[in-house]
Amino acid sequence: MATNRTFTMIKPDAVKNGYMGQIIDRFIQNGFAIKALKYTHLSKEQAQKFYEVHAERPFYGELVDFMCSGPIVAAILEKDNAVNAFRTLIGATDPAEATEGTIRKDFAESKAHNAVHGSDSDENAAIECAFHFSANEIF
Ligand code: CMP
Repeated sequence: MATNRTFTMIKPDAVKNGYMGQIIDRFIQNGFAIKALKYTHLSKEQAQKFYEVHAERPFYGELVDFMCSGPIVAAILEKDNAVNAFRTLIGATDPAEATEGTIRKDFAESKAHNAVHGSDSDENAAIECAFHFSANEIF
């Protein structure tokens, strides 16, 4: 059964380009409650661990370097059917394939620099929320 929580990061490209506030506003305007929020900078070790499911992919090294190239915003968001609802809001991984009005269509630079991360399953959402936040940081 679907849970009501998903995990997101606003990635270094979107932070650098000044879109942090507009993207957080999209979350809120689309009915996601912010349960946890952190402005932080991933270490190389954290980025490697977070994306270790992609370790065999050819883009893994580039992905890790990019994710620790500048600050990110990590958040836990809550809404009915959050994982699927959020994936609809952010659009396809590659902004060139994303639907009009989605966050990646409006703010992403490329498939590699795609503005936001969103959990791909309820199971991974729970893992990713716990990776970034302790219980006393979730409200
Ligand atoms: P994300 O949702 O954070 O999960 C894995 C990330 O890998 C994905 O977003 C993309 O930013 C990145 N990614 C996927 N495919 C490629 C690719 N072909 N080249 C570079 N990065 C990629």
